[in-house]
This record gives sequence, structure tokens and C-alpha cells, in this order.
Amino acid sequence: MIDFKQIIAKAIAEVVNIDEKELESYIEIPKDANNGDYAFPCFRLAKELRKAPPMIANDIKEKIQIDETIVEKVEVVGGYLNFYIHQEEMVEEVLKEIDTQEEYGKSEFGKGKNIVIDYSAPNIAKPFHIGHLRSTVIGGALYNIYQYLGYHTIGINHLGDYGTQFGKLIEGYKLWGKEYNIEEDPINELTKIYIRINQVCKEDENVLEQCRMNFKLLEDGDSYCTEIWEKFRALSLKEFQKVYDLLGSHFDSWNGEAFYSDKMPEVIEILEKTGKLVESQGAKIIDLKDKGINTPCIIKKSNGSTTYATRDLAAILYRTRTYDFDKALYVVSYEQTLHFKQVFEVSKLLRIDEKYTNGLKHVQFGMVSLPTGKMSTREGNIVKLEELLNESISRAKDIIEEKNPELEDKDEVAKKVGVGAVIFNDLSNSRIKDEVFDWNQILNFQGETGPYVQYTYVRTKSVLEKAGYMPTIEEVKFDKLLDESSKNIIKLIYNFENILIQVTEKEEPSILSRYLIDLAKAFSNFYNDNKILIEDKDIQNARVYLTYAVGKVLKTGAKLLGIEMPNKM
Ligand code: ARG
Repeated sequence: MIDFKQIIAKAIAEVVNIDEKELESYIEIPKDANNGDYAFPCFRLAKELRKAPPMIANDIKEKIQIDETIVEKVEVVGGYLNFYIHQEEMVEEVLKEIDTQEEYGKSEFGKGKNIVIDYSAPNIAKPFHIGHLRSTVIGGALYNIYQYLGYHTIGINHLGDYGTQFGKLIEGYKLWGKEYNIEEDPINELTKIYIRINQVCKEDENVLEQCRMNFKLLEDGDSYCTEIWEKFRALSLKEFQKVYDLLGSHFDSWNGEAFYSDKMPEVIEILEKTGKLVESQGAKIIDLKDKGINTPCIIKKSNGSTTYATRDLAAILYRTRTYDFDKALYVVSYEQTLHFKQVFEVSKLLRIDEKYTNGLKHVQFGMVSLPTGKMSTREGNIVKLEELLNESISRAKDIIEEKNPELEDKDEVAKKVGVGAVIFNDLSNSRIKDEVFDWNQILNFQGETGPYVQYTYVRTKSVLEKAGYMPTIEEVKFDKLLDESSKNIIKLIYNFENILIQVTEKEEPSILSRYLIDLAKAFSNFYNDNKILIEDKDIQNARVYLTYAVGKVLKTGAKLLGIEMPNKM
């Protein structure tokens, strides 16, 4: 599609003799459409050109040569140059692109670049909770969007399948395994054991020591411990898969923490050689005070077992070699900020290329609290995600029963709406914000929600169905879409790819979810302002086509977020 921004930047570059790319990065999209489609702030050039911004603006306006069939008007307002794109040209560009691109907005923008995304990563033998949901949903959306922009993406589920907690579970299982029906209901039963053993550990230092020993034995390959561990892992994965099936999640690698057990000695060896790995109370640590991090990174505990951090360091080494990544994203709650600061800092000692350590990024997100408060496995106060999703589906079903009892495939629709509502909720605000989970808000069809976006899509479908035909692009007269509300939609659709790029620049899928809300609202306005099915065939063709375009973009965008669209609801 024509890149208007680039055309404008090029034309300005010819006047002021400054790099086109740099100029392009200054161009803004005015909030108020009255100020044009693009604005160039001349303040940025004042220093270099030693002139007042309004003067620069006037100068450029006088000298600029720009195709009038593309930019119909250039205006100076204060230190700004405002550019008005020829509206009919914009409509034509957008609708022709909709017509020819099976997958609108898909591109080769990121071709040749590898993006590793570490997301979801629940802990074996513990419930898959609402924090892992956020990671799964945010990571999944980023995965889809990067891929759509032509990047090669690698999704990794860095399962928490190793660590001291397994020493505890093994001990609990040894003591009381027979009392629990683990095959039947693995996570719940293992959680009970975990809570019980933790209680005992609090009271009895010897048991705690035994638990630590068990993990050491596991690391050393003890056959009894390994056997139990494997059993826990397999049973847990089967449970997690139920959630992934509901969400439609996909991973390219399931290498969890245990995968790195034989890869840690190399890390320790490299760190030893730097001379920075020092003894402290029997443990081996790296002091990071001079890097502004007050807590040292523990590489080996006093009993010789490794840590979560050591495994992440081994994973970095492995991922640089295996995936040659441009970025490695860790979609993990902000509670682990210190952990990633430490690990990223220590990774600089691993003798890997700087391009890799620069590519490491903690994509942090806020906590989710339920009306009942925050959750922790140790206290046993937790909501299981599978139950939460099923509850959402059943609430969606109730709403459908009430509003549209005649609907076909009610269960299928309820699943799309219920799951979509939960996913959209997780993506609708900037990820760093804490979030309170509130059923009434999530499933509100009029609010800024997943169901609202789905409902708007369904409306576009029903308009097309009522029309009973689909005009070809040749039958569309582009000058029939110059009214305010049509223009709004066209502009939004034109911006779709740019929105996706913004998501990847900030690792922020909420930019796309906000966009979908904007587009849905723009369609509602268009629908209220205009009769779509009318006498005048030319106007009708144009409006039907625009309706189709909106539906197409809503569906594509939702899919990228991991949300399926129902055809009716
Ligand atoms: N399993 C961890 C948890 O539940 C998250 C792991 C995140 N990924 C990583 N490479 N550390 O808290």
C-alpha cells in the first residue's frame, strides 16, 4: 500500500536537505482530524536550520513539491505543517488492498529476524493460575503479531519443572502418597500434598533439610526421585493442556527448567573463569552492587544445588546458540523484576555477543486480583484457570439463552465469547497495570470488551447477509465514502499495519485491542449516521464494501490477539 508518511518525508527532505528516514520519524498523526492526516512539527529542525519553527514551516510549504493527487492540501499552523491526504485516493488505496490481500496487513517487515518469546511457563504440580493466564495471553498475542509481520518466532514454554519445590513434593509423596488419588486429579491432589509438606517444613527443620536433599538427589540423577518427578510432570502437562486447548495456545518448545540441568556446569565454569563468582556463606554468588543491584545473584546454593537464576543463564546461552535471536522476550509478572535484572546483568559475563545481551527484554505485566484477593499456592487460596474459563463460557451461555435463545450452535458461540472475553480483558489495558477481575465488566456487551468487538463483527456479517450480495471492487465508487464517519473508518483501516508495528516496538498488545475498540466504535457511528441498504445503488455498493472491510479487519485483529469470531451471536 502507498506509504503516505514516506511520501511526505521524501518531499520535505528535498527542501531541507535532511535525512528522509529521520524526518519520517518526526511525522505525527494529529489527534484532531481537522489538523489534517499527518503533521510535521518544525520545532525539531529549529536548531539545525537556525530559524523559528513557523518560518521553517512557511519555507517548506512554499518550496515543497508533492503530488496533488495524493496530498491535496498543505497548511501551516504555528510551527506545524499539516498535510491533508486526498481522501478519494486514500479510500481507493485501502479498499483495493482489502480486495487483493487475503490476509490484510500481513507483511515481510521483520523478515530474517528471530524473536524468542518465553511465555506461559506454569509450574509443574501446581495449579495453572491467573498470572500464568496473563503471560499465556500476552505472549501468545505477541507471538502472532510478530509472525504476521514476517518475523520468525519461537514460542517457548519454560516450564517450572525443577527446583526445591520438587524436593518437597517428593518428600510429601514418600510420606503420604498413598492417601491421595494423584492419577485421578493430579494438580489438586499434588497441591494438597504441597500445602501439607510446607506446613511440616515450617515446624521441622529436619524435614526441610530432607526436602532440599531430595532435590539434590534429583539433580544428581537418583532413579527413585527421577521416576516420581517424571510422573508429576506428565500428569501436570496433561492438565495444562486442557487450558491450552481452550485458549488455542501454541508453543514451539517445551524445554522447561529441567532441560538445562546438564547445561549449567558450563555456565558455572565460564563464571568461575571471570573471577567474579565468589563464596558467601557456603553459596556461590555474583555480587552486582557495582551494577546498581543490591542483591547478589545466587548461582549455587550452599548444599550445591543450582537455582532458578542459574537455569535462566543456561537457557540464555542455549537460546543464543540455537535460535540466533534478535530479541528474547520474557513475558513474566513484574514480581520477577529483580530476578531478570540480575540474570540479564550476569549474562554479560557469559562471553556472548553483545547483540544478544542487548536483545534480552523482560516484558513485565501487572498482577491480577480477584474480588477475594491475591493468590498464592502455598496458602491454597487460588482460582484454577480451567474453572475460570469454564465459568466464563457458562456465563456467556446464560446471556445468549436470555438474549437469543433461537441461536444455532449456542455452545460453540458461548465458547468463543466466554474465552474471548477473558483474553480481551487481559489485553485491554497496558500490561503493566494491575487488574481486578470483574465478571460484570468482562462480559458487558456494551463496554470496551471482547464481546463488544465480537458483537460488532457479527453486525457487519448481518448487514452483508441482509444485502444478499457482495459488490466487486470494480463496482465500488470511491467518492461515495467521503463523509466523516466513512473517512474515520478508512483512516483506521489504513493504519492497521502501523498499529501492529507499534505493538512490537513496545511489546504492548493493548495497542491492538484499543485499536479494535476504536474501529468497532467507528463502525457504530458509521452505522448510525448512514443507511447502508438504500435505493442509490452506488452508495449502497460503497457502504456494503466498507462494512465488509471493517469485518475483515476486526476478525484479523481479534485472531492476532487469540480471539475467535462467531458468525452470529
Ligand atoms: N515458572 C515461572 C513462574 O511461574 C515463570 C518462568 C518464566 N520464564 C523464565 N525463563 N524465567 O513464576
